[in-house]
Amino acid sequence: MADWTTDYQEHLLPVFGTPARELDHGRGAWVYDVDGNRYLDFLAGIAVSALGHAHPALVRAISEQAARIIHVSNLFTSPSQIGLAEDLLRVAGNPENGRVFFANSGTEANEAAFKIARAHARQGGGTRILALEHAFHGRTLGALSVTWKHKLRERFEPLASEVEFIPATLDALDTIDDSVAAIFVEPVQGEAGVLPLPEGYLQKARELTTQANALLIVDEVQTGMGRTGSWFAFQQSGIMPDVFTLAKGLGGGVPIGATVTVGAASGILHAGDHGSTFGGNPLATTAGRTVINSIESEALLDNVRHQSQHLRDLLPTLRLVTGVRGMGLLLGVQLDKPVAADLVAAALEEGLIINAPDAQTIRLAPPLIIGEAEVQEFGERWTKATERLSA
Ligand SMILES: Cc1ncc(COP(=O)(O)O)c(C=O)c1O
Repeated sequence: MADWTTDYQEHLLPVFGTPARELDHGRGAWVYDVDGNRYLDFLAGIAVSALGHAHPALVRAISEQAARIIHVSNLFTSPSQIGLAEDLLRVAGNPENGRVFFANSGTEANEAAFKIARAHARQGGGTRILALEHAFHGRTLGALSVTWKHKLRERFEPLASEVEFIPATLDALDTIDDSVAAIFVEPVQGEAGVLPLPEGYLQKARELTTQANALLIVDEVQTGMGRTGSWFAFQQSGIMPDVFTLAKGLGGGVPIGATVTVGAASGILHAGDHGSTFGGNPLATTAGRTVINSIESEALLDNVRHQSQHLRDLLPTLRLVTGVRGMGLLLGVQLDKPVAADLVAAALEEGLIINAPDAQTIRLAPPLIIGEAEVQEFGERWTKATERLSA
């Protein structure tokens, strides 16, 4: 075992197991470990490094911002904080009465959404909070309450008792009536194995929650910021949620989360109801503004759609692959046998970073900046990895 492995195990809580490599630096879609080995990064820090690594615009913007001011408390604001809120609402289509709360991670963005749901319930009307089977919304106690997997929850119970899990089917939505306060949904369940919602799901959820005066809360932590080929995945269904949450790609690697509220949902939390010391500081919001700016100036939404199509054409020709699902550059590759973990390890040996959300699925979430050459390179490395498996 490498030296750092023991040091890691002796100094860090074992919640992640032992990491695969010790990484040193990156450039574009490539990362390098401390021994100088190079890897094609088709995971982007799990859908985080939207602009790839060491993107010049992002490096410049956060370096300049760091030299000016990194942090102000929320007793103050900054041009970048107000600017990022404006940018987010603009790319969301300037919904009526749109507002933004900044946090530092996806789970925190959902925590704020959960508090909004509870406060909404307290204002009268329904009290049930619905979430979907297989959902993943984060690890803090509120977000964990709407996270489905028993294994992640059992040792931390009791969690919020008003949460009910329903299957991700159109029929199951018929449970929505006046007794419901809110429903949490992910447009693509990334952690569960890249499972998209059924066709028409968000439209039906929107209709029923509007009738019931319940909040439609869409978790775009993994799917947001262009990953699916539109700014937010819900835009492809032509609906507007009451609340949506963001993190991952938003800061291009700088920690930031956001809870966006629309219409009456923006009137639920009042001064003093919620907060965060670091949330929305100038460094993080400068990163967010630069990500949005680069997605626009480099036409990355178009690129996501193009490269997604190239991958969808290529993948069925590759060994072990029996199907592809997902949206944009968040793809789940179905394997013909449960060898996903072995394939991830073999791919790493071949200089390719991918990940296995379950035994028979590979998740691909490359940076939004990848080109055709990288898609080709991915195919070649995948093939070598599969040869390693059968060797
Ligand atoms: C859909 C979704 N929501 C929330 C989270 C939690 O985000 P974080 O790890 O930043 O707390 C994740 C993380 O994987 C996610 O995929």
